[in-house]
Amino acid sequence: MRRSRILGIGSHVPPRVVTNHELAQLMETTDEWIVERTGIRERRWVDEGVGSSDLGAEAARKALAAAGLGLERIQMVIFATLSPDHDFPGTGVFLQRKLGLPPMPVLDIRQQCTGFVYGLSIADQFVRTGMVDHVLLVGAEVHSTGLDKTTRGRDVAVLFGDGAGAAVIGPADSDEHAILSTHLYADGTSAEDLWVSHPSSRQHPRLTVQDVEEGKHYPQMKGRQVFKHAVTRMPEVILEALKANGQTLADLGCLIPHQANLRTNEFVQKALGLPDEKVHNNIDRYGNTTAATIPLCLDEAIQAGKVKSGDLVCLAAFGAGFTWGSALLRW
Ligand SMILES: CC(C)(COP(=O)(O)OP(=O)(O)OC[C@H]1O[C@@H](n2cnc3c(N)ncnc32)[C@H](O)[C@@H]1OP(=O)(O)O)[C@@H](O)C(=O)NCCC(=O)NCCS
Repeated sequence: MRRSRILGIGSHVPPRVVTNHELAQLMETTDEWIVERTGIRERRWVDEGVGSSDLGAEAARKALAAAGLGLERIQMVIFATLSPDHDFPGTGVFLQRKLGLPPMPVLDIRQQCTGFVYGLSIADQFVRTGMVDHVLLVGAEVHSTGLDKTTRGRDVAVLFGDGAGAAVIGPADSDEHAILSTHLYADGTSAEDLWVSHPSSRQHPRLTVQDVEEGKHYPQMKGRQVFKHAVTRMPEVILEALKANGQTLADLGCLIPHQANLRTNEFVQKALGLPDEKVHNNIDRYGNTTAATIPLCLDEAIQAGKVKSGDLVCLAAFGAGFTWGSALLRW
């Protein structure tokens, strides 16, 4: 069976920079607390009226340009987001309309921080089987309109930012530049450790005034639980990807970890014994952009020359659900 590869990658963030100092004017927090616990210094927030589909469309255009392909080559869209423009239909169709893509399969997926890795795996299967030749995969989030920007929500509000990344996946000519394997997991045991409980179709109406007053429409997180699971699952799934391909940590050119917390990534890096030049992080400037972190980070690592043609690259993510996964590529 043929393999697939990422033919081009692109990213886009809104222009408005929000520093930790600016957050400290909205809630009881400090730059020191945020930097020490998370490594985040600033993040981007959209202006009113901008949704995930808008950020995603910008990233998609850049990914197509990087791939050197026109829109007419795209035969399928996968859109990963936990912050859709609307409840339904999925954000993928809004992106499709914005880009002017003709009728085709458009799939929205909901795997939160692992969304891009799940999406890459789906795209890989579709291209490998020959169902389609070129897939546009987008991970995009607008968190800023869904955060409790008061002291009540400070543990979560300081972590997240808005942004988008996209990739064009197509057939690989050889194993020298290809997606080697993907490894996906979920375990719903701790689903409520990081979630937004409302609106809920289990309740009529789905969102009450009381729910809003209690902040149930905002993300709730048990931070320590998430941290504990992330630092276990990420090394596990990275080692699994290497082993599945007969590779070792010494062969790895670059690890692109999901950007949830710099401390998590430092922990993972240390557990694996990887030197700084083999790991790329950019959470200091963007915060956690969920489904967008990996393409945003990979794009930056490529631009910086940290990922070069033929390098062995591992993408690894952990997030709400819990979900986690990895992908091993030859860039
Ligand atoms: C969120 C996180 C940074 C909190 O760090 P922590 O060391 O676990 O801190 P705690 O939650 O124990 O809170 C410590 C104190 O800081 C306070 N605090 C929380 N957020 C704060 C903020 N933004 N500014 C200042 N103080 C804050 C808490 O209220 C608590 O105060 P208390 O001791 O008086 O109760 C950390 O748990 C984390 O990053 N977890 C992983 C989160 C993650 O990866 N999420 C995304 C997954 S995809």
